[in-house]
Amino acid sequence: MKKFPRPEILLKAAISLDGYLDDSLPRRRILSGPEDLAEVAELRAACDAILVGAGTLRADNPRLHVHSERLRAARVELGHAPQPLRVSLTASGALDPRLEIFQTADPNQGERPPLIYTPEKTAERLRATLQCQAEVAGAPGDRVEFEWLLADLARRGIKQLLVEGGSEIIEQLLRHGLADLFRLAVAQSIFGKNGGVPLWKDDRLFTVDHAYQLSSARQVGQMTVLTYSRHPATPSG
Ligand SMILES: NC(=O)c1ccc[n+]([C@@H]2O[C@H](COP(=O)([O-])OP(=O)(O)OC[C@H]3O[C@@H](n4cnc5c(N)ncnc54)[C@H](OP(=O)(O)O)[C@@H]3O)[C@@H](O)[C@H]2O)c1
Repeated sequence: MKKFPRPEILLKAAISLDGYLDDSLPRRRILSGPEDLAEVAELRAACDAILVGAGTLRADNPRLHVHSERLRAARVELGHAPQPLRVSLTASGALDPRLEIFQTADPNQGERPPLIYTPEKTAERLRATLQCQAEVAGAPGDRVEFEWLLADLARRGIKQLLVEGGSEIIEQLLRHGLADLFRLAVAQSIFGKNGGVPLWKDDRLFTVDHAYQLSSARQVGQMTVLTYSRHPATPSG
């Protein structure tokens, strides 16, 4: 049950068999195999906006777009923009304008400048840094409250939001019961001592089945994909 108007949220993550989102080595680690990546491409193409935390922008430097021309054309046919809106949030405002997400949008691929949420006190500085490479939205308080951000996205017409991590974002959405679906792809690799960012950094215990129930477990190529849905009676936000 939603307590305020907000988009439907699909939260997705891929982890190693021992629970890491990333290893500690410098280059970007892609855990998913081709079959899982193909499903994720469909999920991206089906949403109005994609959100990642600033930590993921800094670590992975993703472009966050729909690569496939076929999927972009299908969006346009349904009356959507060719690309979902790209969204991130930062409290520090430490975002380098040279990151991929801020590079001039390719008009042939229908990219729009991303939307970055940050506390009002940081917004002016970030606007000066990013100029027209992004829209910066100032939020009340020292952090961006997810309830506020989601209500703002709803006002902008975002109905389906895909959240792609990282760890801090996953923790906030699950702990507050804000994700409607949680899609967790488990790889067969074990990182062991090379484990970098765990799925869960918080030291407080969180038991998924307090708020979520497992709705499917599927093999997708080499990955096991677990999908949890929020208990219908769980208040969200
Ligand atoms: N395997 C996967 O599926 C997957 C997916 C995504 C990411 N990853 C990995 O996850 C790692 C990144 O995770 P992470 O936990 O370090 O970073 P993150 O969750 O992507 O981003 C955390 C950052 O987001 C900002 N933030 C978070 N909550 C906020 C709030 N309420 N208000 C304002 N700003 C907020 C802060 O930015 P500031 O520090 O700028 O204030 C914070 O440091 C990377 O290693 C990446 O490779 C893996």
